[in-house]
Amino acid sequence: MVRVSVLGLGPVGLVTALCFAKRGYSVVGVDVDKCRVDLIRAGKLPFIEPSLDRYLKDAVERGTFEATSDMSINKSADVSIITVGTPSAEDGSIDLSHVKSASIAIGQSLRDKTEDQLVLVKSTVIPGTTRNLVKPLLEEYSGKKLGNGFKLCSNPEFLREGKAIYDSEFPDRIVIGGEREEDLRALEELYKEFYREKTPPIVKTSYENAELIKYANNSFLAMKISYINMIANLCQQVQGADVVDVAKGIGLDKRIGSLFLNAGLGWGGSCFPKDLKAFSAYAKMIRTESSLLDDTKTINDHQPSKAAELAESLLTDLKGKRIALLGLAFKADTDDMRQAVSIPLVKTLLSRGAEVIAYDPAAITNAKPLLDSGVKFASTAIDCITGADCCILVTEWEEFKKIKPETFREKMRYPAIVDGRRIFDPSEFKQANVRFSAIGLNNRD
Ligand code: UDX
Repeated sequence: MVRVSVLGLGPVGLVTALCFAKRGYSVVGVDVDKCRVDLIRAGKLPFIEPSLDRYLKDAVERGTFEATSDMSINKSADVSIITVGTPSAEDGSIDLSHVKSASIAIGQSLRDKTEDQLVLVKSTVIPGTTRNLVKPLLEEYSGKKLGNGFKLCSNPEFLREGKAIYDSEFPDRIVIGGEREEDLRALEELYKEFYREKTPPIVKTSYENAELIKYANNSFLAMKISYINMIANLCQQVQGADVVDVAKGIGLDKRIGSLFLNAGLGWGGSCFPKDLKAFSAYAKMIRTESSLLDDTKTINDHQPSKAAELAESLLTDLKGKRIALLGLAFKADTDDMRQAVSIPLVKTLLSRGAEVIAYDPAAITNAKPLLDSGVKFASTAIDCITGADCCILVTEWEEFKKIKPETFREKMRYPAIVDGRRIFDPSEFKQANVRFSAIGLNNRD
């Protein structure tokens, strides 16, 4: 049985490790964070990911997975997967320090190893990193040469938080980058064995193309959202316009496609903001025009304040008004607050004199240290809207979709709703006589 070691037990690493373990591979997950390792060993997840707890329990029971902070264990692996984080440095460029230490650790563990190891770079890294950083470090610390002791591939992932297991088990495609045909073939074989008859299309290419595909993919998706948000802002000014219908109309054009055309308060999370910044910094470093990337970000930076503007136009003035925020996480089905649009939105509301109360089904613990201490937190959605002057829907959690216009009318002091994710039907609110505004919806009759 193939032995796999996964370095870095963040969302990507742990999901990857447990999906291999589920298929019966013998997997060791390594992380320098001992608290994280202890938590996982105790059968607990360090973050929310639907069904992953079941995968963890199952893998531990079957003995196919163990977590450790001891790097020397990597010696016995046939495949090493680097899934460490690549955060933004202060100037927005990529911080490759974790990739560097993982490469050194793997290199050291290869020194006395007799069998070949296949090393994969799954972390999102700028073009050139696998060739110019990982490979030389592996060679230096192992005392071996590529092709003589280890194989090396770039292998970006495209996992969404909240849907990471599905994306891992049913990917649209697999991207493999390498400089030796033998390395590309070895990884292709591994995935063919993993997916069998469900093997998706496999793109075999150079290291740099594989690295570029990841950035081009994420920045295209972010651009698609910023594009529809720009159209949404335009729709708001046009009598009779609604971005939901415009998005439907253009999304049916097969060349455009309907996914990632939901207008709202903008994108956040651990990937789009960081990757866009790193890609733009990289483009500047190699002196290439990248204004489209920068505009994508600028539109997104302005988007959260649109909700405050809509609330202001419903209430005339935000001073002393109680604003209820439904949702804080950067998207539904996660407790992740990284780069969540709720953070700048709260700042804007407070700076305009509003009082803010918030509710999120999962993210309150993570949100508290990131939001102003003046923000109050409710323990249910209904408690949150009770007595409020205006409610802003920030995150599209399923449970919020079930709240009826009549409930808002009964519970709120001054029923006025701002739908920041377009989950409600405006006509129902109109019928119920509840004041209603939404991103991308013109309110003039
Ligand atoms: C993203 C990519 O989808 C994934 O392939 C990559 O590996 C990591 O980054 P993730 O950050 O989990 O995944 O979230 P995603 O579901 O892509 O949403 C990103 C942000 O865009 C969220 O804030 C979401 O609310 C927003 N979004 C998404 C929109 O505003 N409109 C849309 O139509 C889609």
